[in-house]
This record gives sequence, structure tokens and C-alpha cells, in this order.
Amino acid sequence: MKPIACIVLAAGMGTRMKSSCPKVLHQAGGRSLLGHVLLAARALEAEKVCLVVGPDMTDVTEAAEAVILDVVSVVQAERRGTAHAVSMAAPALRDHDGPVLVLYGDVPLIQPETLDRLRQIVEAGADMAVLGFETANPHGYGRLITRKDNLLAIREQLDSSAEENLINICNSGVICLNNELLQHLLPKIGNDNAKGEYYLTDLVGLCNEVGRSCKFALCDETEVLGVNDRVQLSRADGLFQQRYRERAMLGGATLIGPKTVFLSPDTRIGRDVTVGPNVVIGPGVAISERARILPFSHLEGARVGKGAVIGPYARLRPQADVGDGAKVGNFVEIKKATLEAGAKVNHLTYIGDARVGAGANVGAGTITCNYDGFFKHFTDIGAGAFIGSNSALVAPVKIGDGAMIGSGSVITSDVPASALAVARGRQENRPGWADKFRTLMRARKKAQS
Ligand code: UD1
Ligand code: CA
Repeated sequence: MKPIACIVLAAGMGTRMKSSCPKVLHQAGGRSLLGHVLLAARALEAEKVCLVVGPDMTDVTEAAEAVILDVVSVVQAERRGTAHAVSMAAPALRDHDGPVLVLYGDVPLIQPETLDRLRQIVEAGADMAVLGFETANPHGYGRLITRKDNLLAIREQLDSSAEENLINICNSGVICLNNELLQHLLPKIGNDNAKGEYYLTDLVGLCNEVGRSCKFALCDETEVLGVNDRVQLSRADGLFQQRYRERAMLGGATLIGPKTVFLSPDTRIGRDVTVGPNVVIGPGVAISERARILPFSHLEGARVGKGAVIGPYARLRPQADVGDGAKVGNFVEIKKATLEAGAKVNHLTYIGDARVGAGANVGAGTITCNYDGFFKHFTDIGAGAFIGSNSALVAPVKIGDGAMIGSGSVITSDVPASALAVARGRQENRPGWADKFRTLMRARKKAQS
């Protein structure tokens, strides 16, 4: 199989997005539109990827380089059509011996397997192959004029006859053809059409004219959804989420109310994990088997051990590492901290820059005071320690194994293993004081009225 090269068109700012951010950098499914497209190109092991950007789009180039190190970025100074954009990239591919795949940066749901089908058609001997889709609402798309499995031409909406307008097989924009043919036909494309643009779709008619073959393949409409405005952006995001949820469920996780569970492209979920409704899982989360994530929890950059229970209403921030069988309850925030196996932090607590040893119990309302306004400090809680409710642990501080902290303490120095530390005002009871106080006050009030 000959190596493939990709051209990704991303020159448009996307005026309908009404944004100062280039369209292809908007996010759906946890990454930029362009990021998704480039990952599809990368999955094909493209030998060369050439990106066509508009003027002043260094941010787009930088984003692309983060995905594909040696991406070649070329600028299309003026928007003169899709063929014009491709011709900006063509010189960079002059020496490429093999097929070229043209992708649009605003069509993010495209899957590598589908691109591979197109490539196989060319590999099998066709000179060109176009990816089409059937739709109930073809308005605005280029229509495929076909005869059996041959593609004769693509007619843009504005240039098509009333009869052609009835065709509901449309052009996705994805084209694969041999580089030699691309280089040969590109200069022949004119701009004699309704928009006065150089249409890449004219390649198809020209290909047939010079006696070469053009085929087509079909894919599901949802896979080639183009993003032109924020409504379509949210539709794309929804379709990505659907993919991630299905992947998690087919991998053995139970999602309750899956439409309300939001996952990231890199979310790893083990078997027999249960995720409740209204859970948001940001990037970098791994959840081990049998763990339960209860409703309204938010996780990001965190690891959850086997059989651990998180939430409801828990927040795991980056570098939270919750051990096997540990528990993180409601209104608890964990950041850059390790909870060892079986540790419990069940209610209203902040644990940051800390270790909570195996089997330790952290009472309600406990706070690790990790920040002095300048530096972050570490709190080390030993195995089996018991922290009484509403305690403040002022870091840096170390609580030894098995130690106990009296409720309401402000702990500023280390506590030895197995000791009890109490750091608060000592309780004093004054018998009868409350009654005497009330009698006095009632008399005062009466004297005033
Ligand atoms: C294009 C196709 C149409 C297809 C539809 C699918 C052409 C002529 N038409 O129409 O057959 O059904 O996509 O969504 O190709 N671009 C540039 N430089 C330009 C013009 C466009 O980089 O000068 C980029 C855009 O940023 C975009 C892509 O090419 O990523 C498609 O351009 P767009 O103007 O959106 O084409 P459509 O009219 O949607
Ligand atoms: Ca478009």
C-alpha cells in the first residue's frame, strides 16, 4: 500500500460562529474540531499532512503542531474556493507518490475507518473516490451525479438544475485521489460558476473528461456533519458524547441516565463501574472496576481505585488519587492528594496537597490549610488516623499513624502516632448561668418600656 498524504482545509474564520476564535479551534467532544480531524489523519499514518489556514492564523498552526509535529502549514491569503485552497497546498506535495486525501477542518466526526474505505477504493484501481451521504435535507450541499457506482460530477446547489436539486445523495467534501492526477487537474479548474469560486468538486467532472475513473462511497450523515454555527457545534458535541458513552457502556460500565453523563475522549472506565446521572468527567480520568460515581460529581485529572465510592456532589481535581475501596462523600473536594485504600472523607471537606493513609477517617468539615498565600504545603495523615469534625490542619503538618484529633482543633504542629491532639478552647460549664442571665435581661427590658 502506498503512503497517503492529507490536505486539511481550515482557512475560514467561520463568520457564522460570531467569534474572535477561528472556527476550527472551537471545541466539541473535548477537543478542537481541527484536533479531531488531525487525529483521524494521524490514524491513517499519513506520510505528510498539509494544513491550509487563513491569514493571521498562527494559533491554528500551533494547535495543529500539538497533534502532528511536522504538519506543513500554508496560508491561503484570499478565500477563492476549495480548489484554490487545495492548490496552495499542492506544491508541498509535489514529490508525494501515492494518494492524497482532502479533509475539511470543520467536519470533525469523520472516522479513520471511513477514510480508509475511500483509500481502499483508490488502492483497488479507481483514480478518484468521493465520500457522499444520503440525507432527507440536501439543501446547500453539492449533489452527486452518479451512474451505477461511478461518480460523473458534483453539482453545487447554486449551479444545479431543478431536477438535480431533487438528488439527495450529497458531497461530504472528503475526496481521495492519486497525487499525480490531482496535480494534473488542479490547474484546469476554473471559476465560471454562481459563486465565482474555484470549486474542488469540479475535479470529478474533469476526471471523467480525461477518461479516468471516479467512484464514490457512502457514510452516515452524522459522520460528516459540518460545523458552521454554534447550534451545529453543540450537535457535534452531542454526537461525540454519544460515542464516548456507548464506548463506556460496551466496555462494561453502567451509565444511569447516560444523556446526562459527560465524558472526555480519554476517559478510562473499568468493568462494572456505575456512573450516576449528572456526572461530568473532564480530561485525564481513569476509574477502576466496580467503583461507583454517584450523581452530580465532577472529576478531572483523577484516578479512582477499585470499588471506591465518589459523591454524590463530590469534586475530584487534578492529581486526586483515590485508593481501592476509599470513600469521598458529598461536598468534598480533593486536589493533588492521595487517599490510600479504605480511607474515608465523607462530608464537607477540602483535602489538598495531602496524603490520607490507609483506613484513616476524616470527619465532616475538615480542611487542610495548604496555602499560606505564597506557597503550597503538604499535610500527611497516617494510616488509621481519626480526624475529628471541623478541624483545620495547617500545613506543613504530619499526623502520625493511628492518632486522633479532637473535633474543632486547629492543628499547627505534628502529632505523634497513636496520640490524641486537642487544640481548641477548653470547655467550661457554669451551672444556672443561663437562667440568671435571662432574668436580668428581662428586668432591663421591662425598665426601658
Ligand atoms: C462544500 C462543497 C460541497 C459539499 C459541502 C459539504 C465545494 C465547492 N463544495 O461546500 O459540495 O457538499 O462542502 O459540507 O467544495 N475553504 C478554504 N478556502 C476557501 C474556501 C473554503 O479553506 O477558499 C475551506 C473552509 O474553511 C471549509 C471547507 O473549505 O473548511 C469547505 O468550504 P465551504 O465554503 O464551507 O464549502 P460549502 O459551501 O459548505
Ligand atoms: Ca461548509
